Amino acid sequence: MLSRQIAVIDFGSQYTQLIIRRIRELGYYSRLFQPDELKSSGHPAAVILSGGPRSTRDEGAPDIDFEFLRSLGVPVLGVCYGMQLLNLKHGGQVTPGTKREYGPVTLQPEPGCPLFEGMTPSQIWMSHSDTCTQLADGTKVVARNQDGVPIALQFGPLFYGIQFHPEVSHSHQGLQVLKNFLALADDPPRFEMQSFKDHLIAEIVREVAGRPVVCGVSGGVDSTVLAVLLHAAGVDVRCIFVDHGLLRKDEAVEVQRNFGILGIEIETIDASARFLTALAGQTDPEKKRAVIGNLFLDVFWDAVGQEVPLFAQGTLYPDVIESATSSSNIASKIKTHHNRVDRILELQREGRVLEPLAELFKDEVRALGAALGIPHDILWRHPFPGPGLAVRCPGEVTAERLTIIREADAIFMRQLQDSGWYEKTWQAYAALVPVRTVGVKGDERSYEFAISLRAVTSEDAMTADWARLPYEVLAATSNEILNHVKGINRVLFDISTKPPASIEWE
Ligand code: XMP
Repeated sequence: MLSRQIAVIDFGSQYTQLIIRRIRELGYYSRLFQPDELKSSGHPAAVILSGGPRSTRDEGAPDIDFEFLRSLGVPVLGVCYGMQLLNLKHGGQVTPGTKREYGPVTLQPEPGCPLFEGMTPSQIWMSHSDTCTQLADGTKVVARNQDGVPIALQFGPLFYGIQFHPEVSHSHQGLQVLKNFLALADDPPRFEMQSFKDHLIAEIVREVAGRPVVCGVSGGVDSTVLAVLLHAAGVDVRCIFVDHGLLRKDEAVEVQRNFGILGIEIETIDASARFLTALAGQTDPEKKRAVIGNLFLDVFWDAVGQEVPLFAQGTLYPDVIESATSSSNIASKIKTHHNRVDRILELQREGRVLEPLAELFKDEVRALGAALGIPHDILWRHPFPGPGLAVRCPGEVTAERLTIIREADAIFMRQLQDSGWYEKTWQAYAALVPVRTVGVKGDERSYEFAISLRAVTSEDAMTADWARLPYEVLAATSNEILNHVKGINRVLFDISTKPPASIEWE
């Protein structure tokens, strides 16, 4: 952790993580702290108090050491819950609401307020139920909505509160509000990847202290950047790649070739036969996941041997935040589960887990990879789930079904690459729909499975929308699959958003 930052205090809003992202997008270093961690945040250059689902009037509602906050002498911005808390602390009143007000309103800044410098009336996104009903002496209303209702307050030269979310894209000039707020800070810390990389390397050298490190690699962006970073730090690292036989077409060879390009030696363990045997007869998605997860760990730790040195894994900041906060969802649980299984937790208690990427978001990992000189194509690979093609194969996983998925998926990926759509999507793949339908192939009746194509856009996989692929790309992909993939006579395009669907089929 760098010593100075913009501290974001988490009161539990689902958007808190987004505030940090936006500040980093503006080029400043920001981190999340729980309300009781404010004192350990060092000396932040500015503090943002997030929104939250509770009422400041609830018993046991999250609180802040206001005297300490004031003693810092830095700018403070309260967002929704944060604003109500600041109003209370300054001697005003907050009245609990009976229902949550949610949606767009127009922000009308009062002239001359530094927080809204250079801004015109624009749409912002509200989400609150409590209201600041009485203001303390000296508190000024600095913005109203279209009906004249106060939605931003100034409590003092450095203390502001806003009743809307500047971090969401529905607040059209929200980024400008954050930028204006940061301009109040004295020399706010910059977040620049080249120097952050040097900082990470120095931290790794200090933490590893010459001990050997073992690291699981999958060919995915996170573990690849991790391996290269450890290498760059001069660490004695052993990289193990478990091929569970659930990879995409030619993927194992590609992973080995990519690591060859990066100059890193990896040990490949071909355990595909063991995985297929273990999966035989399993049709329940959770059981399949459990079989794969447990066997993966057995194979991996067998290779590592008894004496486990330091274990490095590519945990990212969203996983850390999600496991630290109460708001969680299915995607984060899957990931948390993945990085926090019992064996890892045990190692962690012994101080033997190294997670150098734990402060970064996915796009920042890619930027770090670029700063480390990793080729573009490797960095822009789509995310791929740990249980591999098994979660794209509803029902039993068999060698034949995997072959169908691999062939269809390879065609789809090439079509996306050729049309320039691969990098415009967060993730795309072909899944098998194990339902037979009737068709005609040549002059004969066919009775075969279907392939479902899925392509999504997303910021961090928490939510996703289906990618509006051009008809030509879909048509060419469908034709090629129908003509070349044995066992398929129908191609579908999945237009489900997440939520309620998830990105993967299982
Ligand atoms: P879902 O399907 O939950 O997926 O919308 C969200 C993101 O997580 C990936 N995913 C996984 N990644 N182990 C992983 O490492 C898993 O078990 C797993 N399941 C889903 C998925 O590909 C998407 O990017």
